[in-house]
Amino acid sequence: MAPSGEYVLGGTDTEQQRLLRQIEGFDVEARWLLDRVGIQPGWRAIDIGCGPLGILDRLSERVGPAGTVVGLEREPRFAAMGRAIASERGLTNVEYVQADANATGLPRASFDFVHERLAIIQQPDPERMLREMVALARPGGIVAAQEIDQVSWLCEPPHPAWDALLAALRAVLTEGGVDYFLGRKLPGLLREAGLVDVQVEMQIKADRPGEYRRTHLLAMTQSVREKMLARGLFTTEELDATMDALGRHLDDPNTVVVRQLLFQVWGRKP
Ligand SMILES: C[S@@+](CC[C@H](N)C(=O)[O-])C[C@H]1O[C@@H](n2cnc3c(N)ncnc32)[C@H](O)[C@@H]1O
Repeated sequence: MAPSGEYVLGGTDTEQQRLLRQIEGFDVEARWLLDRVGIQPGWRAIDIGCGPLGILDRLSERVGPAGTVVGLEREPRFAAMGRAIASERGLTNVEYVQADANATGLPRASFDFVHERLAIIQQPDPERMLREMVALARPGGIVAAQEIDQVSWLCEPPHPAWDALLAALRAVLTEGGVDYFLGRKLPGLLREAGLVDVQVEMQIKADRPGEYRRTHLLAMTQSVREKMLARGLFTTEELDATMDALGRHLDDPNTVVVRQLLFQVWGRKP
């Protein structure tokens, strides 16, 4: 588990831009989830660990002018960027709160819908964050989590640069306390947190050239590049050459890239 509460991918401009591109790559899946849960106009919703945007725009349109959406984020630079994006896009029912997901300080039982995506995976104690999420939901409210599971993540034909970068990424993530097979554990974690009627969906796709998630491994490598170099996993020249080689392989339209599984799990607070 994580030695500290630090966000392993960092709060850099590179990571902010990566998160914005990642949001596009998960938009179809986010809309599917919100349709399935049946978010209602007038609801009060929260996206925890939302980064610069998360699903705030999708929640904003669904709860409408009579509803409210809170984006909760710990990293000050993401929260500042999020406030600017919300203002630019006229998301007048969205409010940003800078706080820790594990101890939000927000009123208990005050939300109809409590959501997180790819934030539990960052926590040294995932159960603690889930308990906080459940505490924020009103009785009858819905708590939803979206987390990846790397079991399906591959390229075909295989390539040594893919294998080398994936191994290095996993080493950095593990050191940062990230469980990259967390997705499959979510249903059990939600039930243990006290939710009922827990439902599970898994989304997967093969991404074409030009789509963000096709080059997700390269983007993640870029975000943790300094950590890989500091750990002596590559020299600068080796890392650049490996990334170039993988870039060429992924540019080839004949290469098939299968995503990580995205687990979408939600349940009701009794
Ligand atoms: C991989 S990003 C996902 C961002 C967003 N949920 C999305 O799907 O686009 C994880 C986010 O969780 C935030 N985060 C991690 N631990 C947190 C904590 N304890 N409290 C609040 N935010 C946290 C990070 O700062 C980062 O913005």
